[in-house]
Amino acid sequence: MKHIKLKINTKTQKYSIVIGSNLMFNISKIIKDNSINFKKCLVIIDKNISKKTISQIKKSLNRKKIYIHFFKASEINKNINNVNKILDILLNKNFSREDCLISVGGGITGDISGFAASLFKRGLKFINVPTTLLSQVDSSIGGKTGVNTKYGKNLIGSFYQPNLVISDIQFLKTLPNREVICGYGEILKHSLIANKKFFNFLNRNYKKIIYLKSPFIEKAIFESCKIKKNIVEKDEKEKNLRKILNFGHTFAHAYESFFGLYKKTQPW
Ligand code: GLY
Repeated sequence: MKHIKLKINTKTQKYSIVIGSNLMFNISKIIKDNSINFKKCLVIIDKNISKKTISQIKKSLNRKKIYIHFFKASEINKNINNVNKILDILLNKNFSREDCLISVGGGITGDISGFAASLFKRGLKFINVPTTLLSQVDSSIGGKTGVNTKYGKNLIGSFYQPNLVISDIQFLKTLPNREVICGYGEILKHSLIANKKFFNFLNRNYKKIIYLKSPFIEKAIFESCKIKKNIVEKDEKEKNLRKILNFGHTFAHAYESFFGLYKKTQPW
């Protein structure tokens, strides 16, 4: 199982990001190698994840007591009611802080799961398995979790770092092209913020990256995560420097609200 590892060291948590291919067969070993121990876990899985992947995960975790909760990821469903559903399962199944919540999905699934993890008994173990390029290079790192409300996106949330992030390139192979380009946009943004050499690498190799060619895609994810790591380690709670990562996001929120795009997708 070939993989690369990046260590994040914030004031509240030290954790690793493991990047590689076909990691789901070995999820149990990766968890153990990173010294995360638990007997019981709740896996929150995006409904779009294939049955094959789910059985790989189940098989690998077969020594643990495992519960599965499917989540239909959308901005509408990223709400407090769905956090409550997760908390309800954890309470009903008698989870403790020593047990673990695992998210398998994109940014929305990770945000809602991370938020539930931060609330349950003031924090239980949390492993994030981001399945989109955007979540692998952005939302899975740095501990921003939360939900949407009628007042706007992500206005309720917490900073809660995961215990481990496992980024499997295999997931990206089933993504629509548009999703890959979305993630590439974030990678490019990180390079513009902090690393001209990386920007030149992206310029030379963007086609190989967008077509997920190894080792270019791994390098692009790794370097992008490294840029975010350096910023988050200096300013975990976004007092100052971390705001630099919002450029693009702030514009997108303004664009969406100007054209009413966000409201159109909301029930309120
Ligand atoms: N996505 C911006 C941040 O994590 O700070």
